[in-house]
Formats: sequence, structure tokens, C-alpha cells
Amino acid sequence: MKYSRILGTGSYLPKKIVTNEELTKTVDTTDEWIVSRTGIRARHVASEEETSSYMGYHAGLRALEAAKLSAKDIDMIIVATTTPDKGLPNTACLLQERLGITGIPAFDMTVACAGFVYALSVADQYIRTGMLKTILVVGVDVLTAVTNWEDRSTCVLFGDGAGAVILQAADKPGILSTHLHADGRQKDSLYIPTWLPGQRKENELPYISMDGRAVFRFAVKALEQVMEEALAANQMPQSAIDWLIPHQANLRIITALAEKLKLPLDKVVVTVDRHANTSAASVPLALDEAIRDGRIQRGQTLLLDAIGGGFVWGAAVIIY
Ligand code: COA
Repeated sequence: MKYSRILGTGSYLPKKIVTNEELTKTVDTTDEWIVSRTGIRARHVASEEETSSYMGYHAGLRALEAAKLSAKDIDMIIVATTTPDKGLPNTACLLQERLGITGIPAFDMTVACAGFVYALSVADQYIRTGMLKTILVVGVDVLTAVTNWEDRSTCVLFGDGAGAVILQAADKPGILSTHLHADGRQKDSLYIPTWLPGQRKENELPYISMDGRAVFRFAVKALEQVMEEALAANQMPQSAIDWLIPHQANLRIITALAEKLKLPLDKVVVTVDRHANTSAASVPLALDEAIRDGRIQRGQTLLLDAIGGGFVWGAAVIIY
């Protein structure tokens, strides 16, 4: 039996940091409101140069370095992003070109904030079946580029960044299981209108639109269910989880889930306070941070979860 194992991780955060205090100068909000409702204190905001392929490239390089591999060892590139550099070519092709390699398949997956967990699942299938040996999986987004900075109900929530993992075939786990779901009936709760100029409705702005309360309610329920499903599939009690690496959208959602799972908060990796919601990058950014600072150790059991506009959501159980 083949498994895919995380060989190395990497991440990239834009240089510019915008604090809550700075946002109070442009929209009618307060640091106290943002922190008490979301746990967010600051976010990184990409410059024009820091596109998805740029950030994904730097995260990917760091993951390769951690895995002690070079770009020519990669058999496939999957980039989870909702904010590609261009309509085409896809971001994975642009990243491949930056890495100086050719020939291997490279494609994007548009699965909003759940993109990384979805991409991890796809990569896992290629490795388990023995088709490929080494895959670069990147989660990256520049949601601040599609954020209306005059809308206080959304502009306080999002940030930019990239996270990457190198998955490689191994005889021992590895990824134990992944669990993916979607419900397109919820398409109006969280969306970005088309950015195809010819199809845009008159007066429609190309910005994120969200029913915050509906998202909150759905997220807690869906993530609780998928995490229970993931534990049951592996016949694992909650106590077997060493680290929960949740999607970093809102500290209140994270806390509610930890409580439901009876996981103490010191077993939960939290970055939302400094990164805000970085969409497809949020889980791999948190994973990389906790691996690099030594919290996550080899052999430990990780539970990942993510949810995004669609709705789309999923979980993964991994022995690191
Ligand atoms: N500063 C101050 N007031 C704000 C504000 C801000 N940045 N944003 C919204 N408000 C106001 C609203 O206008 C509303 O005012 P009103 O009562 O006069 O109409 C009030 O605050 C309360 O809004 P409400 O929507 O009830 O707040 P909330 O407690 O539900 O928190 C969110 C709002 C967005 C933080 C919360 O719903 C949330 O986090 N939802 C999930 C979002 C998410 O995770 N999205 C991504 C998923 S991938």
C-alpha cells in the first residue's frame, strides 16, 4: 500500500502589514469590533508584484528546500487559488515556468477557501495509485485584490499569502484520509461576481460579497460534521489528534469547533490573528508555521479542515 507523506512545507507572506488601527482611518470600524467578532488584529496585503504565482513560487521553493529536493524532482504541480494571475495560462503553469521546469502536468483548482484540502486530496489519489511520486501542492490567494476597501463588513476579514507542501510516495502514512463536500445551493452566501468584462452586469462591482451570519452558521455545522466523519473513518477518538489545523476565517468559528471536538485550544494552530482569512493559503500557512516553530513533530496526528464559498468544505487526517 502506498501513502503520500508530507516531505516539506513552505510559505510566503506579503511584506506589507495592515493593522486594524490602520483600517479605522478608512472605514467606520474599531479594533475592538474586529477583534471581538473575528480575532483578527492584522493582515498581510500583496503588492502588485506579489501575485499568486509569485507568492506560490516562493512558498514552493521553501517547501522544496525543507524537503531537500530540487524542482526537477516534482512530477506534478497543483495550485489551489481563486485569484489566478491571469485568465490563462493557469497559475500552476506560471509557477512551473518560475521554477524553470517543463513537461510535468500543472493545473489550478478553484475551490475557494477549501482549495488546499481539495488539492491535497487530488494529489493524494495520484500518489496512492502509484501514478506519480512527488507532487507540489500550493494554496495561494490575493483576496485583497477582490475586496471592496470601502465595505467594512468584508474588508476587515481578508489577507493574502501562500502555503505549499511537497507530497511524496511512502510505504507508511502519510495522509490517512481526505473528506470533501460541496453544496451549490449556498452559492449566494459568499461569492465573487464574474470578472469577465463581457458578462458583468451593469453597476456590478467585482468584489467579494458575503452574508456573514449565514456563512458563520453553515461553517460551524459543516466543519463539525466533516471532522466527525474524518475521525470515524479512521476509528479515531478526538484524543488521538495532536494538532487541529483549521481554516483561519474567524477565531469564534475555530473556538466553537475546538469546543465541539473537546480539543483544548493549545492543540489548535491559530494564525488568523496575524494573517486574517487568506483563503486557500490559510491551512498550509498555519501548517508551515507550526512545523517550522517546532510545535508539530514527526509522527504526530493532524486534523485539517477548510470551508469556502460554494459552499465547499473538507477535512484531512494526516500522520506528519
Ligand atoms: N466594524 C463595525 N461594525 C461592523 C463591521 C465592522 N468592520 N462590519 C459590520 N458591522 C456592523 C454591521 O453593519 C451590523 O450593524 P447593524 O446591526 O447596525 O446592521 C453589526 O456590525 C453586526 O453585524 P453582524 O453581521 O451581526 O455581526 P456578526 O457578529 O455576525 O459578525 C462577521 C460579522 C462577518 C464577523 C461574522 O458574521 C463572520 O465572521 N462570519 C463568517 C465570515 C467568514 O468566515 N467568511 C469566510 C468564510 S471562508
